[in-house]
Formats: sequence, structure tokens, C-alpha cells
Amino acid sequence: MDKFFPLFAIFSGAFLLSFLGCAQDQSDFISIDSGITDGSSYVDEITSINYVSDAPYIYTGVSENISAEINTMNMDRQYLNLRSFPEGTKSCYTLNATQGKNNRYLIRAGFLYGNYDKKGDVPRFDLYLGVNWWETVVLNNASSFFVTEIIHVSASNHIDVCLVNTGFGTPFISVLELRPLKNDIYVNVSGSLENYGRCACGLTSDQAIRFPKDLYDRIWSPCTSPRLEILSTASTIQESSQDNFQIPSTVMQTAVTPLNDSHLLKLHWMHDDSNSLFYIYLDFAEIQELKTNQSRELNIYVNGELWYGPFSPKYLQTTTIYRPAALNNRSFEVVINKTENSTLLPLLNAFEIYLVKEFLQPETDQQDVEAILNINSTYRLKRYWQGDPCAPIISLWDGLNCSYEGHNSPRIISLDLSSSGLTGPISSSISKLTMLQFLDLSNNDLTGPVPDFLSQLQFLRVLNLANNKLSGSVPLGLTDRSKNGTLLLNVRKNPNLCSSDSWKNKIIIPVVAAIGSIFILLLIAAVVFWILKRRKQGEMNEHNGTSKLKEQNFSYSEILNITNNLERVLGNGKFGTIFHGYLDDTQVAVKIFFSSYVHGYKQFQVEAKILARVHHRNLTTCFGYCNEYTNKGLIYEYMANGNLEDILSDRNANFLSWQERLQIAMDVAQGLEFLHNGCNPPIIHGNLKPTNILLDESLHAKLVDFGLSKVLTTEGATSEYLDPDYYITTKLIERHDVYSFGLVLLAIITRDINNIVDSKLKGNFQVDSVWKTVELAMACVSSPPINRPTMTRVVKELNQCLAMEIARLNRSEGTIELVTVNLTSGLDPQAR
Ligand SMILES: *[C@@H]1O[C@H](CO)[C@@H](O)[C@H](O)[C@H]1NC(C)=O
Ligand SMILES: *[C@@H]1O[C@H](CO)[C@@H](O)[C@H](O)[C@H]1NC(C)=O
Ligand SMILES: *[C@@H]1O[C@H](CO)[C@@H](O)[C@H](O)[C@H]1NC(C)=O
Ligand SMILES: *[C@@H]1O[C@H](CO)[C@@H](O)[C@H](O)[C@H]1NC(C)=O
Ligand SMILES: *[C@@H]1O[C@H](CO)[C@@H](O)[C@H](O)[C@H]1NC(C)=O
Ligand SMILES: *[C@@H]1O[C@H](CO)[C@@H](O)[C@H](O)[C@H]1NC(C)=O
Ligand SMILES: *[C@@H]1O[C@H](CO)[C@@H](O)[C@H](O)[C@H]1NC(C)=O
Ligand SMILES: *[C@@H]1O[C@H](CO)[C@@H](O)[C@H](O)[C@H]1NC(C)=O
Ligand SMILES: *[C@@H]1O[C@H](CO)[C@@H](O)[C@H](O)[C@H]1NC(C)=O
Ligand SMILES: *[C@@H]1O[C@H](CO)[C@@H](O)[C@H](O)[C@H]1NC(C)=O
Ligand SMILES: *[C@@H]1O[C@H](CO)[C@@H](O)[C@H](O)[C@H]1NC(C)=O
Ligand SMILES: *[C@@H]1O[C@H](CO)[C@@H](O)[C@H](O)[C@H]1NC(C)=O
Repeated sequence: MDKFFPLFAIFSGAFLLSFLGCAQDQSDFISIDSGITDGSSYVDEITSINYVSDAPYIYTGVSENISAEINTMNMDRQYLNLRSFPEGTKSCYTLNATQGKNNRYLIRAGFLYGNYDKKGDVPRFDLYLGVNWWETVVLNNASSFFVTEIIHVSASNHIDVCLVNTGFGTPFISVLELRPLKNDIYVNVSGSLENYGRCACGLTSDQAIRFPKDLYDRIWSPCTSPRLEILSTASTIQESSQDNFQIPSTVMQTAVTPLNDSHLLKLHWMHDDSNSLFYIYLDFAEIQELKTNQSRELNIYVNGELWYGPFSPKYLQTTTIYRPAALNNRSFEVVINKTENSTLLPLLNAFEIYLVKEFLQPETDQQDVEAILNINSTYRLKRYWQGDPCAPIISLWDGLNCSYEGHNSPRIISLDLSSSGLTGPISSSISKLTMLQFLDLSNNDLTGPVPDFLSQLQFLRVLNLANNKLSGSVPLGLTDRSKNGTLLLNVRKNPNLCSSDSWKNKIIIPVVAAIGSIFILLLIAAVVFWILKRRKQGEMNEHNGTSKLKEQNFSYSEILNITNNLERVLGNGKFGTIFHGYLDDTQVAVKIFFSSYVHGYKQFQVEAKILARVHHRNLTTCFGYCNEYTNKGLIYEYMANGNLEDILSDRNANFLSWQERLQIAMDVAQGLEFLHNGCNPPIIHGNLKPTNILLDESLHAKLVDFGLSKVLTTEGATSEYLDPDYYITTKLIERHDVYSFGLVLLAIITRDINNIVDSKLKGNFQVDSVWKTVELAMACVSSPPINRPTMTRVVKELNQCLAMEIARLNRSEGTIELVTVNLTSGLDPQAR
């Protein structure tokens, strides 16, 4: 989210003149300008890149042009049109891995909404690389650009780039590019490297540098800071012989250095997920001719620890500094300072920052994929089937159900092709779907015999062939299983199927009536339950890679086991007691409710299941529940730092800085925002207060006890944080949460007012940002509720407060930042 996207290519005429003649090899590039006329192509005047239409790479979607009011500036041609995908959940471009599998590729996707549909409603959707989530495409407004780039080692000969509709508008894409990279540059990671920033320091023009100067077509954005001095040279900079990064000479010909001794050269960025891994690549070359009495030697510190050095850049020769170990933190400060003996201040020519994207979701079993593709082509199905059949689970192919077991490949267990206009014989490819449990081919025009291979499908429980034109007789293997009740078989309405009528009457019905009916019903129930359970589990695994949970529903004896007989109490609340426990090896908190406060069995079950399905980094994960007679409980993720109430009131814990306070408020706001806008139907927290805000070991805040209002008997319950308006209307609405949030925010600001005032005297916070926060809190508690901001608005405002504070912190140290990665808004690819 708070991420810095590589800036875009804007090239000058000079560039054009000097490079057009120079035909660099782009034969292994794939450069797609989505939405241009099928079969057309053009050479971009500026970059000399040959863009082609997307017709060979995708077969769905609609070509669109951005609207004229947005296309007022001289924008990059690739953004003038796009392809949108109003139908289907998932749409995939299939790119050839032009240098084969197990090789490294840079893949870049660009988006500009441009109000192409004249609706003025900017969509939000997900981008997947194959079956793995790559990025959520978030656009601020109709004219903002979104560009994301990833370095990926392809495991197969093709690469799927998929757009997934997540319910927030129609996905689209403007431009898609694939570039082969050498294998010996950038680290080998389990996963891929998403570009987080790439700068040519000291480059002042509006032009980014890319192909053909950069053979890999990386895009180097200009960046500098007014408080840094720019150095430059006209001499060519050589690549060091031992690496293959091929940083363009033009990128290295400029550099930045602090204005004077009292300043630092510093990179700073913050990321919203503390589990993220980063790699940094710093490019140095000496570009000043040093006198004999001069020297330039530098050290590189990351978060206060020496990371590399001492080191002297070589004259007119590039050295790329990186380390094979990833950096893990939420906030980064890279300081480059001179060593004691250096007469000159440090310099930096260029840098790249990468974020590791762990790709854990396996692809569907290859044999299943081949089989289902064959079935698709045999019957020429008209379905929006694209990319992987089973993953991600949100875009499971229509008509399929799959099993998801941990890190094993998903398998197809259910296929429903009823009423799909199938003609011809039953495809033998179905026999390759060896895990199939449910097969429905009813209501088609299938002809030929019922093949014997169906009886080889050992897990098949339900087979529906009704209402076709099948002929011959039903294989014995199937009738036997049907007779003894292990297969639910339906072959009715196949006039040519030998004795199918007598079948219907003499075999199925009597069997069903006599022995099978209850058994079969139970079986169906078991299959449906099993499928449901697998799906849940799949969802859970997807969101929570570490959870090895098999069950959501725990018996009370399991709860006793988990908590070691309720051994350790973590806290006592109005509605219950919280115990410490272990689920497998994971620490958990188990909340056991006082039975007098909890509603009946069914209501609890329904709500608990919903809770266990809601996942967000600012919501405490609910691993499962217990619902046995009067024993009702919820199992939550364990939060090491307790609740906010305790932290705020702990006298010894006055350590919370203004920035940390703002960050906690931000976490809370984002959690609420997700409940209100990311859940369908929206969830009202209903009981937000500092004791329901938990903090993990890195002080990230997560909400707990949300959405329990339907479960708990709250009559007579009062909370100082509950909106008075609620007592009047007694119907919870989003703006009641906003009210509670306003009070929580005030508590965060003022709980230890002395500390704040103390800091104020020391000048340790930004007065503006405090005022802004107070104003926001007051707006949240205003009446009537309609006057209060939405949580979306609150998140935006808090973000600004945080940005102000971060900017202040960086100033007050008397240091200079090269770039605040999360704050630099970047140049748009306009007006070149
Ligand atoms: C987009 O614009 C081009 C010409 O600028 C035109 O030929 C094409 O029909 C337009 N496409 C749509 C979908 O309006
Ligand atoms: C992809 O590669 C295969 C062979 O490697 C080739 O036959 C096919 O034409 C290529 N497809 C495209 C769209 O370039
Ligand atoms: C659109 O958002 C960008 C930031 O992505 C901002 O710089 C620009 O001013 C916004 N434009 C409008 C018209 O609001
Ligand atoms: C990554 O692994 C491949 C194959 O093992 C190897 O050829 C390549 O040099 C490695 N790259 C790096 C940067 O270590
Ligand atoms: C360094 O530069 C700043 C201006 O950015 C100036 O105020 C300060 O006096 C200078 N310090 C020294 C030691 O020259
Ligand atoms: C280095 O030598 C030059 C003369 O060649 C002199 O002007 C300068 O002050 C010297 N610098 C240092 C740091 O000694
Ligand atoms: C993150 O950086 C801070 C300093 O900025 C340091 O105190 C902390 O230990 C680091 N965390 C990790 C996990 O390295
Ligand atoms: C360089 O920066 C690091 C980190 O900020 C600091 O710990 C160190 O003292 C600095 N060294 C010098 C020589 O300024
Ligand atoms: C700095 O230079 C002096 C004299 O050349 C030398 O004795 C000392 O070890 C050097 N210090 C470092 C940190 O290299
Ligand atoms: C399914 O078949 C249709 C029609 O033959 C074809 O256009 C489409 O590409 C196939 N789908 C997949 C995922 O291969
Ligand atoms: C049902 O019949 C099939 C086929 O004859 C046989 O393989 C299977 O073991 C039988 N199952 C039961 C529960 O009798
Ligand atoms: C897949 O499972 C869901 C419930 O888990 C069920 O509603 C749906 O009908 C199943 N689809 C098929 C094709 O079996």
C-alpha cells in the first residue's frame, strides 16, 4: 500500500536522436499494449520498443479507450487504451517464457483507468502471477497510474498474468511487458522479487532511463533531494567485470552527495507488513577525479548497524553492493556516511529496492489440468475458464470443486457440466481426473455408451448422466456400486440406454427405498460437508500460511487440551475469561464466555464461522471456536503485547512515541475500515475500546471481539466507548464504530497527557499533526452520526498525520533524505 512505484518513462528528444539508430536486441521481449486493434503493432517513437496487440495472449475482455478529458496531456501511447474484463472472475494473459523455464524474467504491468467507461468509479482488483497473489491494483483517481514490476523465475514454459475481480469493480490492464534477465543477477529467493523503488540519483530531467539504454528495460526514475548536491560526469562508466547487472552508464553518470559535513546521505522507507523481506542494491562509481591528497571512503549502515564497508568507489567503474541475506523490518533507514579517514563526503549513483513475494500456493495437479483442458477443447465449452483451474480459490473455475491440502497441489474432486450443450461421446479425459467424487453430465446431448472407465474412478460418489442420449448398457462396475450404496447413480431419461427404464424402477428405486436411502442421504451429507470443510480450510491456508489447523470447531475437551486445563489466565473480561494455550506449536489465546451472556447454539455457530473466515492484518485471527452446551469459546491468535488499555495506563510504558501512537491509531482504523468495507456483508465491530485492541510483539495493533454483538447479550451492558446514539436506536451502524474510534483516538492522544506535554516542551512531535489528529477525533465523535467521517476517510487523514510526523522526524535529525520511499509520489508518465 504505502509503496513507491517506479516512475515512468519520459524521454527527451535528445534521447530520441541518439538512440533510435541503435537497434538493441528486443527479440525476447514481449511488449503488449492492451486494447489496441487486434493484430496491430507499432514501434514506440521514444523507446523503439515494438508493442503488439494482446489478441494472441488472451481471448476475453473488451478493448476500450480512455476518455478524452483524461487524455489531454501527451501521455505514453501505451496508456491510451486498455482491455477491461467485465465477465468472469479471473482473466489471464498467457505469456511465453521466451527463454524457457527456470529462467529469470522481469514482468511489468501498468494501469491507467482514465474513466474509459465514463462511470468515474475507479476499480480495485487483484493481480496474480499464476496462482499467487502479486499485487492489489489501487488507483487514486481516474488519472493516476499504477505500475508494478516483479522479477520471477518461471517454473514452466509459460507465465500466466491474471486479473482477478474481487468485487470492487471491473479489472482492466493498459500495458504488460516481459523481459528476460540473466540468471546470475539479483538473488535466488523462494518466491519472486517485487520492485519497490529504482532510482538514478541526481538525474534531474523528467526523463526516466529505460530501454535501449538499459538492456533489460528496467526503468530508472530520476530522483534527488533539494538538500543534496548533484555530481555528474560526461565520461562513460564501465560495468565491473565480475557482475552482470549492466547498469546503464547514463544512470551512473550522475550521483548525489550531502551538501556538507553536517548532513547525512540517507534512504528511508516504511512498509506496512513487518514480516516482509527486503533486498537492497546500491550502485557506486567515483565520478570525480580525486587529487592525491583526496580520498572517498564510505560505510553503509542499515537501521544503525554496519551493513557494508569501508568501501571506496572505483573511478568510472560501477560496483553494485548487495548482500545475500534479506533484511527484515518494518521501517528502514540506510545511512551512507564517510569513514574517519575519508576527505570527501560519500556519494550514491543509483539504487534498487526489492520486496520478496513468497509464492506458496501450488498449482493444480498437472494431470488434472491437462485433463480438464482436454475436456474443454473436446466439448468447446463456452466458459470463462482461464489460468489455473483451482487456484486461487476465489477464482475457482465455474463448475469445479477442488481439494486443497496444505502445500500439496490442489486436485479436482467435482465436475459439473450439466446443461452445457455437450455433444458426442463421454470424453475419456474424464478418466484422468482420478480424484473425482462428483460428476454431473446431466441435461446434455451426449451420445454413445456409458464408458467403463467411469467405474475406475474409485472415489466417485455421485454420477449424474440423466437426460442425455446415451446408449448401450450401464457397466457392471457402476451398477454394483450403486446397488451397495457407495455410488449415487442417475441414468434416467436416456431413451436408448439399455433397460434404463427398468433400471430406474427396478434397481435404483428399490435400492434407495430398501437399504440405501438413509445411508445415501448420510453419504451426500458427508460429501457436501467434506467439500465445504476443505474449502474453508483452503481459504484459511491461503490467508494464513502457518496455520496447520484441521478443524474450526473444537470440542471442550480439545479446549482443555489446548489450554492445558485452563492453566494460565491472560485476562478477564466482562463476557468471559481468556486463557493461554498452544494449538500445534502456535501460541493462542482462548476466550471462554460466561454462559449467561451468550445466545443460543445456532446463533453462536453462525457468527463464529463468520469470524473464522475474516482475515486482515489488523484483525486478530480467529482459528476456531467451541460450541458445546454451555461451553462456548473462541480461539484467537496470541498477541504478545497485551491490550492497548494496559499499554496506555502502564506507568513504565510511557515509551510510546507520537509516531507509534499514530501508527497504532492507523492500525485500528484500517482494521475497522476492512470490517466496514472489505467484508460482505459489512461487519460492525460494536464494541471497540482499548481493551479490545491487542498488540503483537512489534506493536502492531489488531482488533478483537468484533462482530460479537449478535452473539452476546448486551442488554444493560454499557461501555464508555459506545455511542449514546446506539442506546436510542439500538441498531448498530458503521458510524457507531466511528464514534468509538474517535474516543479511542482521544485516549491514544491524551491518556498520558503529561508525557505528551513533556515531549511538546522538548519539541518531540509535530504540532500540526497532533492538531490534525485531535480534529479528526472530534469529527468522529460528532453528532448526529451522519456528520462523522467514514473509516475510509479516517484512514486517509491519519495517513497524512503519519506522513507529517515522519517528515518532521527526518528533518529534526538535521539529516537529509535522498528519498522517502513511501512518501515520494513519483512522476506520472505524462508530458514527455
Ligand atoms: C479507440 O480509438 C480508436 C482511434 O483513436 C478507434 O479506432 C477505436 O474504435 C476506439 N475504440 C473504442 C472501443 O472506442
Ligand atoms: C510460444 O512458444 C511456442 C514454442 O515455444 C510457439 O510455438 C508459440 O508460437 C509461441 N507463442 C507466442 C504467442 O509467441
Ligand atoms: C490523482 O492522484 C494523484 C496521485 O496518484 C495525484 O497526484 C493527482 O493530483 C490526482 N489527480 C486528481 C485530478 O485528483
Ligand atoms: C541462482 O541459481 C541458478 C541455478 O542454480 C544459478 O545459475 C544462478 O547463478 C543463481 N543466481 C544467483 C544470483 O545466485
Ligand atoms: C551545512 O549546510 C546548511 C544548509 O543546508 C547550513 O545551514 C549549515 O551551516 C552548513 N553547515 C556547515 C558546517 O557548513
Ligand atoms: C589538497 O591539495 C590541494 C592543493 O593541491 C589543496 O588546495 C587542498 O587544500 C588540499 N586538501 C586537503 C584536504 O588537504
Ligand atoms: C528494526 O529496526 C530497528 C531500528 O530502526 C531495530 O531497533 C529493530 O531491532 C529492527 N527489527 C528487526 C526485527 O531487526
Ligand atoms: C554513520 O552512521 C551510523 C548510523 O547512523 C552511525 O551509527 C555512525 O556513528 C556514523 N558514523 C560516522 C563516522 O558518522
Ligand atoms: C586512518 O589513517 C591512519 C593514518 O593513515 C591510520 O593509522 C588509521 O588506521 C586509519 N583509520 C582507519 C579506520 O582506516
Ligand atoms: C476452452 O475452449 C475454448 C473453445 O475451444 C477455447 O477458446 C479456450 O481457449 C479454452 N480454454 C482454455 C482455458 O484453454
Ligand atoms: C460396493 O461395490 C463395489 C463394486 O462391486 C466394491 O468394490 C465395493 O467394495 C463395495 N462396497 C461396499 C461397502 O460394499
Ligand atoms: C462445490 O461446492 C459448493 C459448496 O462447497 C457447492 O455449493 C457447489 O455446488 C459445488 N460445485 C460443484 C460443481 O460440485
